[in-house]
Amino acid sequence: METMIKIDNVTKRTKDGTVLIRDINLQVEKGSIVGLVGRNGSGKTVLLKMVCGLMKISEGTIEIDGIEYNSKSNKIPKSIGAIIETPGFLENMSGIKNLEYLAEVRGKIGRREIIGIMDDVGLSYMSKKPVRNYSLGMRQRLAIAQALMENPNVLILDEPFNGLDNDGVRAMRNLLLSYRRRGTTILLTSHNEEDIEKLCDKVYEMEAGHLKPSTK
Ligand SMILES: Nc1ncnc2c1ncn2[C@@H]1O[C@H](COP(=O)(O)OP(=O)(O)OP(=O)(O)O)[C@@H](O)[C@H]1O
Ligand SMILES: [Mg+2]
Repeated sequence: METMIKIDNVTKRTKDGTVLIRDINLQVEKGSIVGLVGRNGSGKTVLLKMVCGLMKISEGTIEIDGIEYNSKSNKIPKSIGAIIETPGFLENMSGIKNLEYLAEVRGKIGRREIIGIMDDVGLSYMSKKPVRNYSLGMRQRLAIAQALMENPNVLILDEPFNGLDNDGVRAMRNLLLSYRRRGTTILLTSHNEEDIEKLCDKVYEMEAGHLKPSTK
């Protein structure tokens, strides 16, 4: 088995010395889905931010897809798609224009792939509606499209089903399962037990900055 995400003794301390998460160890095998559960404020988002390179690690190392980073090097991992809190979109532009803009940064995909992913997440690529007028669920669908569109090896998804209606939740679960079948490795958080149960191969619980295997 190939380990795609390897978190080794990771600790996050703020400037004033408060420990947000302590000595976290977690490995995610290629092609598996691992879930993180835990109460509000337990440290799930902090951990995912460090995995994505959005927050500096204080101690320890994280290795993703063979690339290692630590407190000194804060590289952004290359083949990673992520949803962390509300992503910033260009509010006056349509959904497709936003995705095209993001895709241009890396030049990996074009309009055809973008239309395909918008279809997968249930958004109309022809709609000219600016993102500022999107509903919460539409925004979440666009965020999911943004994370998946370049077909990354690793997906880091912080509460990916937030705001989705029942059909949306079902569609997104199936979409994530289809990515797993293709070998995508997924680390996600959710407060919904059914999502966790239906999707995850393994579940861990964060409790006040510590990680333990989930009893659920
Ligand atoms: N940049 C920061 N500076 C200082 N403290 C922070 C920072 N980011 C988060 N925290 C604190 O770290 C703790 C963990 O927050 P985190 O957002 O990881 O919780 P969470 O498990 O994702 O909760 P939720 O289920 O509500 O999303 C909280 O006490 C929070 O206030
Ligand atoms: Mg959170």
